[in-house]
Amino acid sequence: MDKKKRILTGIRPTGSLHLGHYVGALHNWIALQEEYQCNFLIADYQALSDHFQDTELIKKSVIDVTLDWLSVGLDPNKSNFVIQSYVPEHAELSMLLSFVTPLGMLERNPTLKGELDSLPIERRSAGFFSYPISQVADILLPRAHLVPVGEDQAPHLEMSREIARKFNRMYGEILPEPETLIGKVGRLSGTDGKGKMSKSQGNVILLSDSEKSVEKKVRSMYTDPNRIRADIPGKIEGNPVFQYLDAFTNNDSNVKDFKERYTTGNIGDVEIKNYLSKTLNDFLEPIREKRSYYEQNISIVEEALDKGINNARIMANETMTLVRDKMKISSYKKVW
Ligand code: TRP
Repeated sequence: MDKKKRILTGIRPTGSLHLGHYVGALHNWIALQEEYQCNFLIADYQALSDHFQDTELIKKSVIDVTLDWLSVGLDPNKSNFVIQSYVPEHAELSMLLSFVTPLGMLERNPTLKGELDSLPIERRSAGFFSYPISQVADILLPRAHLVPVGEDQAPHLEMSREIARKFNRMYGEILPEPETLIGKVGRLSGTDGKGKMSKSQGNVILLSDSEKSVEKKVRSMYTDPNRIRADIPGKIEGNPVFQYLDAFTNNDSNVKDFKERYTTGNIGDVEIKNYLSKTLNDFLEPIREKRSYYEQNISIVEEALDKGINNARIMANETMTLVRDKMKISSYKKVW
């Protein structure tokens, strides 16, 4: 039996991953693989919450996300890559937990509230309203000890602990209360400087973007809008060009020099942007190479998923046997 503590975390497959995912999550996950038994979930059921009308995109994104993960260095020999719908116990546990989840717990969840508010009324489904329960099931099914997520997911983790506690109290102690591991690194702004990098805003640089595409996107990036000429002093804060340089370089003396010259009006945007393009392309090039290798060897990708899914099924089976037994579901024969 593996003595390492268990991690579960996941992502909705609704598009290819971008630099924001790398900085906010993947970078951290790659490091965690060494110390923990990690389970990385591609939450295709949950993707239906806001993309039920676009199942073709979800289907395609399942494989795109897997390729992104392999390309950045998530390692299927260390960790389990799991597609949620291939382990239908996720749905079973979610359904069972929905009966012990008070409505008020969902109504008070601030993340859910915000998301519902910004969703057109005709797209607010019952499934959307209860997706946090499905996320609780994702976490409790492999009996995860730790869940690395961004700040916005913290309410779902709080719910996971409350539901685990309630379940254990009512039916018997079987579900560990998961801890939240909030990543140190923050979010990356979009190339337009308006809020975070997000596919729906069209302000992303994808991990799978070509060299040319990166150059094009960087060239049209938002900088300091008040700086209409190279000899006007510019602002570093809130300037995504410098935010990206900081995120993808380490103690780089060129970046220090650019900042100095930028704030004193001694450098043009083009010089800095060319440097940023080069920095990002240097970072992305090995990722592109790995992606192209896996694209040409798709059987390796399928094997990775098969292995992860199999391991997840074993854990799911153990948990569901306990859960059904404690809840006296599927157990009429034990009366005799
Ligand atoms: N809600 C997460 C997102 O929006 C995805 C997710 C699904 C998840 N299940 C999870 C995250 C379990 C952490 C744990 O991307």
